[in-house]
Amino acid sequence: MSTPKKKVVKKATCSDMNDTDLVEVHAKLGREKHPPTKHFLQAPLVFVFLFGCLIFFCAIQLAHSTNNFQIHPPEPDIKLTPEEMEAKRIERKLAGGKRLFNSRCASCHNPDGMGKDLFPPLAGSKWVATDPAIITKIVLKGLKGEIEVLGKKYGTVATVNMPPQPLNDREIANIVSYARKSWGNDASEVTEGQVATFREEAASQKEQWTGDQLKDMYKDSFSGD
Ligand code: HEC
Repeated sequence: MSTPKKKVVKKATCSDMNDTDLVEVHAKLGREKHPPTKHFLQAPLVFVFLFGCLIFFCAIQLAHSTNNFQIHPPEPDIKLTPEEMEAKRIERKLAGGKRLFNSRCASCHNPDGMGKDLFPPLAGSKWVATDPAIITKIVLKGLKGEIEVLGKKYGTVATVNMPPQPLNDREIANIVSYARKSWGNDASEVTEGQVATFREEAASQKEQWTGDQLKDMYKDSFSGD
C-alpha cells in the first residue's frame, strides 16, 4: 500500500507546474550554479602574454650566460707579456719570410741558404748579414758582375746574374729578415719602413747593381776584405 502512496505525492508536485514553469525553474537553477563570467576571453590571453614574456626574458638571460648559446665557450685569451708578444710577432714574420724565400729565392740559393754551383750562399755572407741596405737593395734591383762570397768568386759567367725581384716592402722586409736570422746568420730584423727608405735611395739605379758599386757605398761592411 505504501508504494502507490509515494507515487501519488510525486505526481502531485509535478502536476503543480506546466511545461513553461518547469523550463523557467531549470534556467533559474542553472544561472545560480554557473553565474555568467564577464570578459572570460581576456583572462587567459593575459596569462599567455605574460608566459611569452617570461620565456623571452629567460632566453635572453640564457644567451648572456652561455655566450650566445655556445655549448663549449672559447678559452679566455691568455694574456701575453710584451716580450712574449714581441717573440710571437717576429716568429710570424720569419715564418712568412721563409715561405717567400722558398718560393722566390730558393730555386737559386737553395732552401738551406748554401747556394749551389754558380749561385752564391747566403749563410755566413757579408752581403746578407751586415748593413741591411745591402741585401735589401740587391733584392730590389738585382746584382751582376763578379763578387766574392766566403772566399769564392761568383758572377763570373755573364749570363748567370741576379734579376730584380718584384716584391712589395712588406714581403722584402720578411724575406731579408728571415735570411739575416737563418742558417747561422744572426743580424738585425729589417722593417717595412727601412725597406721603403732603401727603395727611395735606390730609385735612381736603373740597372742591376754591380758588387763594386755596393762595396763602395757600404765600405764598413766589407772592411775585413
Ligand atoms: C735566378 C736566380 C736567383 C734568384 C731567384 C735570386 N738570386 Fe740572389 N743571386 C743570384 C746570383 C747569380 C747572384 C750572384 C750575382 C753576381 O754576382 O753577379 C746572387 C746574389 C745574391 C746576394 C749577394 C751574394 C750573397 O750570396 O750573399 C744576395 C744577398 C742575394 N742574391 C739574395 C737573394 C734573395 C734574398 C733572393 C730572393 C728574394 C734572391 N737572391 C733570388 C741568383 C738569384
